[in-house]
Amino acid sequence: MSIEQDIQRLRDQINQHNYRYYVLDDPQIPDAEYDRLFQQLKQLEQDNPELVSPDSPTQRVGMLPLGEFSQVRHEQPMLSLDNAFSADDMRDFERRIRDRLEWPAERPLMFACEPKLDGIAVSLLYEEGVLVRGATRGDGTTGEDITQNVRTIPSIPLRLIGEGYPRRLEVRGEIYMPKAGFDKLNEAARARGDKTFVNPRNAAAGSLRQLDSRITAQRPLEMCAYGVGIVDGGELPGQHVAILQQLQQWGLRINRHMRLVEGVEGCLGYYSQLAQLRDSLPYDIDGIVFKVNELALQRELGFVARAPRWAIAHKFPAQEEITRVRAIEFQVGRTGAITPVARLEPVFVGGVTVSNATLHNMDEIARLDVRVGDSVVIRRAGDVIPQVVKVLRERRPEDTAPVAVPDHCPVCGSDVERVQIARYGKGGQVQQVEGAAYRCVGRLSCEAQLKQAIIHYVSRKAMDIDGLGDKSVELLVDKELIRTPADLYRLRKEQLVPLEGFGELSAANLLASLQASKQVPLARFIYALGIPDVGEETARVLAQSFGTLDRIRRALPDLLTWLPDIGREVAQEISHFFTDPHNCEAIDDLLQQGIELQQSGELDPRLGGAISLADLLVKLEIPAVAKTTAARLADHFQTLEAILAADELQLRLVEKLSKRAIDSLLAHTGEEAFCRRARQLEAQLLEFGMHWQCQPEPSASAALPLDGLIYVLTGTLEQLSRSEAKNHLQALGAKVAGSVSKNTDVVVAGPGAGSKLAKAQQLGLEVIDEEAFMQLLAEHGIQS
Ligand code: IVH
Repeated sequence: MSIEQDIQRLRDQINQHNYRYYVLDDPQIPDAEYDRLFQQLKQLEQDNPELVSPDSPTQRVGMLPLGEFSQVRHEQPMLSLDNAFSADDMRDFERRIRDRLEWPAERPLMFACEPKLDGIAVSLLYEEGVLVRGATRGDGTTGEDITQNVRTIPSIPLRLIGEGYPRRLEVRGEIYMPKAGFDKLNEAARARGDKTFVNPRNAAAGSLRQLDSRITAQRPLEMCAYGVGIVDGGELPGQHVAILQQLQQWGLRINRHMRLVEGVEGCLGYYSQLAQLRDSLPYDIDGIVFKVNELALQRELGFVARAPRWAIAHKFPAQEEITRVRAIEFQVGRTGAITPVARLEPVFVGGVTVSNATLHNMDEIARLDVRVGDSVVIRRAGDVIPQVVKVLRERRPEDTAPVAVPDHCPVCGSDVERVQIARYGKGGQVQQVEGAAYRCVGRLSCEAQLKQAIIHYVSRKAMDIDGLGDKSVELLVDKELIRTPADLYRLRKEQLVPLEGFGELSAANLLASLQASKQVPLARFIYALGIPDVGEETARVLAQSFGTLDRIRRALPDLLTWLPDIGREVAQEISHFFTDPHNCEAIDDLLQQGIELQQSGELDPRLGGAISLADLLVKLEIPAVAKTTAARLADHFQTLEAILAADELQLRLVEKLSKRAIDSLLAHTGEEAFCRRARQLEAQLLEFGMHWQCQPEPSASAALPLDGLIYVLTGTLEQLSRSEAKNHLQALGAKVAGSVSKNTDVVVAGPGAGSKLAKAQQLGLEVIDEEAFMQLLAEHGIQS
C-alpha cells in the first residue's frame, strides 16, 4: 500500500471513530487505541508534509490568530422562531396552520419535536463533502466567518462521511457547551481568580468569539444539527425528521430526543415529558421547537416577517431572573466550612420559587462585589443550588458597603481560618486548587460540626466506643444531651433508656464501652479529636515524636514541620486547632472526665538534639538564606542571638555571603515579630530537647522495643484485626511492610497464609504464629 493510501485509510478510520463517539455516542474502541491511530496519522503527515490536507482530522487547530472576523452574507437568511408560552398558544399555532392549509380536523398533522438548545446558531457549509466555512447567524442576513473556530469542535465533521450528499450543503445547528464542561471551566476560572461566565450560553458565545482558535479548541463545545439551508447539486428527503436522519448518516450530530408526534396534543405530551427530563439533560435547553414535518407543507405555509409559520418554540420557565439581595448570612457546614448565602426577595426561577442563593465563598463575594440591597441575576439550572451570577451595578442603591469576612464563627464564636480548598487525587496529592474558603476552627466545640465530630470521636479507629451509631449520635445531639464530646461521659442510663434505638441492655453496654475507652493510647486520642488533615498516621507520628499530649498541644507550627511527613499546611491546621480556646476547653473537659492517656512521656530519641542552628535558620524561610548560607551563618555566629544582633558590617565578614542575603537578613532581623518568632522557636526546641545544645539521652528506655524491625502480616488473625495488629506493632516501633523480602525480620502468619509464607520459608526468615505474636505483645504490655 502506498503512503498516500495509508494516510487515507487512517483518516477514514479516525473519522469513523469520531462519528461513533461524537454522533452516535457509541464508541467502538478504547480512547488509548484512538490516540494511537491519531499519533500514527500525525507521524505520517509529519514525515510527508506534502500529503497534509485541510480536511485531515489532525488539522483542527493550528491556524494563526485572526485580526478580526470577516463577514459572511447568508445566501438564505437564518430565521428566528415565534414563541409559545402556554398550551393555549400552542393550540393557536396548530389552528392557524390548519386554517391556512384548509386541513380537515380529522386528518392527522405531524410535527417534528426537538429540544431547543440554548447555545449559538451556526451555519456550516460543505462543498463536495468538505467543510469550507462556518458562520454565525449574526442579524440573520449577515454573520461572521468563524471557520477556524468551528473546525476545533470535535463533533463537527471536517469531511462528511458516506455518500450521496449534495455538492453544496449548508447544515444549520446549535453550538453549545454542556453543563459539566461549563462548571469545570468556571471552577478553574474561580481558582485562578478570573471572571466566570454567567451561563453555558455565554461561555459558548465567548468561546466562539475568540480570534485565536487555540483558545476555542480548549473549550468543551459541541454542535447539534437541526436543519439545512443551501442544498445544491443533490436531493434531500421530503420530511424534516428524514432530513436530520440523513444528516446523521453523513456524520453530523442530531438530538437523540427528536421525535415525530401527531397534532398539538402530541406536541403538548412531548413538552411535558421533556420538561421532566430537563434538569437531567447534560446541556441547557430553554424550550421545545415544533416543526411541521412535511417540507411540502412548510413551503405552502411560508414565512411571516422573520419567522416561519410552520415552526414554533414552546418555552420553558426561565432559568435566570432578577431579584434583590435582602441580606448576606454565613452558614457553617458539618466540616466547619463557612459558606456565605444571599437571602433574596423571593423570585420564580427555573420552575420554583427561590429565596436563597449560594455565594460559594468569600472570594466569590469579592469577585461579584455583591452587597446587601443589590439587584442580582439569579440562575437556577436543574436541581442545582441557585446561584448569584451577576450584580446589576447600575441599579445599586446608594450607601451600600462591601461584605466583610466574618472574623468569628457565627455559630460558636471560634476563630475563622482561611483555607485552600483543593481537590485531591487518588494518591492524596493536590490535583486542583478550587479557591480559598473560610472555616471555623472550633471543631470540637462548634454546634454545626458537633455531630460529625462525635461520630468521628467514637469511631472504631478513634476511641472505639461501641453501641453508638450515627443515628444515635444525631439523636443525642438533637436532644441536646451532648454539646461537647466530654458530655458523652456524663450520659446517664436513665437518659438513654427512653430514647429510640436504646434499651436497658444497650444503654448499659454503651456506658461500659465509654468507661473502657478512657484508657487510650495517645495516638488514638489525637486521631479522635478530628483535627483537619490529621489521619491515623499523622496522629501516630505526633504521639511517637512528642510522647505527651502537652507537647503536642503547645508545639509551634514551625516546630511541627520537623516531624516526618508534616508540611506547613498540616502544621498550621494542628496549631490552629490547639490554639482555639473553644477547642482547648473541650479537650480539658475531656481530660477531666477521667481519660487516661497511655503515653511514653519521652521525646522520640531520634529528635533529641537533632535540630541545628542552621536548620532553625532554614526553617525561618528568609529569602536568599537557604541551606548553604544558613550553614555559613551558623558556623560564623554560633548562636541565634548573635545572628539577630548582627549588623551589616558583621554580616559582611561572613564567608561568601551575598549582598542579597545580607539585605534580606537585615530586613528580617530588623522586624520585631520575626525576632520573636525565631526566639520562641529556639526556646521551644530547648524545652523539648530538640535544640542542638541538648544532648540526646543515650537511654535505652526511650528507644522502642521493636525499633528498626520490619514485620509482615499474612493470613487471618483470629484474636485481633490486621489493622489492630499493625497499630500495636507500630506502637512498639516496628515497621509493617506489605510484602516479604530479604529485609523482612519477622513474618506473622495466621491460618490461610499463602505465597508470603512460602517466600518467608524460602528465604529462611523468622515466622511466628498468632499465639507467639500475642505473647510478644503481652511481653510488651499490650493485652488484646
Ligand atoms: S429551528 C426556521 N431548531 O433557536 C427555524 N432552532 O429563535 C430556525 N434553536 O437561533 C430554527 N434549537 O439557534 C431550531 N432544534 C432547534 C433549535 C433551534 C435551538 C435556536 C436557533 C435559533 C433560535 C430560534
